[in-house]
Amino acid sequence: MAGGNLPSRDSFSSKFGIIAAAAGSAIGLGNIWRFPYIAGENGGGAFLILYLAFIFVIGIPVMMSELTIGRRAQLNAFGSFKKLAPGKPWYLVGFMGVIAAFMILAFYSTIAGWTLQYLYLSITDAFSGKTQVELTQVYDTFLASSYMPSIWQLIFMLLTGWIVMAGVKNGIEKYTKILMPLLLVIIIILDIRALTLPNSMDGLTFLFKPDFSKITADVVLEALGQAFFSLSIGMGTLITYGSYIRKDNNLGSTAISVSLADTFIAILSGVAIFPAVFAFGIQPDAGTGLVFIVLPNLFSQMTGGYIFALLFFLLLSVAALTSTISVLEVVVAYFSEELKMSRKKATVLASVSIAFIGVFATLSLGPLKDYTLFDKNFFEILDFTSANIMLPLGGLLIVVFVGWYLGKDKVSDELSNQGALKLPLMGIFMFIIKFIAPIAIAIVFMNGIGLLNL
Ligand code: PHE
Repeated sequence: MAGGNLPSRDSFSSKFGIIAAAAGSAIGLGNIWRFPYIAGENGGGAFLILYLAFIFVIGIPVMMSELTIGRRAQLNAFGSFKKLAPGKPWYLVGFMGVIAAFMILAFYSTIAGWTLQYLYLSITDAFSGKTQVELTQVYDTFLASSYMPSIWQLIFMLLTGWIVMAGVKNGIEKYTKILMPLLLVIIIILDIRALTLPNSMDGLTFLFKPDFSKITADVVLEALGQAFFSLSIGMGTLITYGSYIRKDNNLGSTAISVSLADTFIAILSGVAIFPAVFAFGIQPDAGTGLVFIVLPNLFSQMTGGYIFALLFFLLLSVAALTSTISVLEVVVAYFSEELKMSRKKATVLASVSIAFIGVFATLSLGPLKDYTLFDKNFFEILDFTSANIMLPLGGLLIVVFVGWYLGKDKVSDELSNQGALKLPLMGIFMFIIKFIAPIAIAIVFMNGIGLLNL
């Protein structure tokens, strides 16, 4: 445990370690699985522009706000609010984050389980020589099975719990440092293959050419939700991670590096997926299965497809793992610091209860898919409610807390490392978190759920 400012707390040891851990949280299935499927369902280009705007105008300021709260308070998401605003109900924001963590991990682990199945399929060379129809069948058969998806999900939860139990620095930092850059390399190779397929330009047009007539209130809310989900903000993940960051780290530049890396990976995944979608005649709005249907087609048409598929699904599993770790950590830090459980007990309790809910999310895409509410199955309810409702709401309250409650002096003290760093953009930052971000989130949100009609 090197260099923590509080000897009793675990902390990240190096600057790159912090960025790697936060980027490890941000980069995951949100970029490679969720971004393409949501962009595909919401019309492509116009969605992309909204998503990018939300990342830069709202996302980065929310991320900086979270890191500020966590590092200042040195506690879990719930405890941080309690400490910084004693006697006030702000801790409820932290509590909502813990609930959001439960919900996100429950459905996220479903898809994380799929990555393990696809890793297994890659090892057994299940893609090569198969047609598009056959590869779709591989996916459908897997999903219809009542136990395999759940078993993979449980294995994934076990892995997550095992690493979280080991503690923040030993568990998280070590893996992300090497493996995230490697993932980037593989995605770039996939991009090159996708771009050299016939009709690949149609895919790029879909992704980059905005058709503004496609923008509806729903699309705007989906873009906001995706920006929050992908950056891991709005529920206290980065409050929790912020509490492990040393006092000499530049939080602003950390937030910017992490957000840029995250956005870059999402776009590069889009560039691999959409040209392939059009080349293989798959529907861009195919939904949750999109990447799992498209990418095996790409691998089956690639020289060295066997090895690339294997590496890709291995790294995707790791990327998912560094994200699930960060979600579970929110709950474990809360259980252990607030409810005074041992780290071990907290991890077991959190993992087991999340896995229990998670199995229903998994089954709701297969055997239980006919049970729906407002036309959404259980998986979709968890996904929609957490990403599009809880995270933006959490983000709104977080910026209001930092902008209006903590106030400029404390915030600049924290962001400047007690005066050691110059903050040329402090005025703009305060203006964004006090006015722009909360108003923008409120409008998108109320418009999206129909409380406002623009
Ligand atoms: N950002 C992660 C991803 O893109 C998911 C995540 C959401 C992690 C919220 C933590 C909190 O995969």
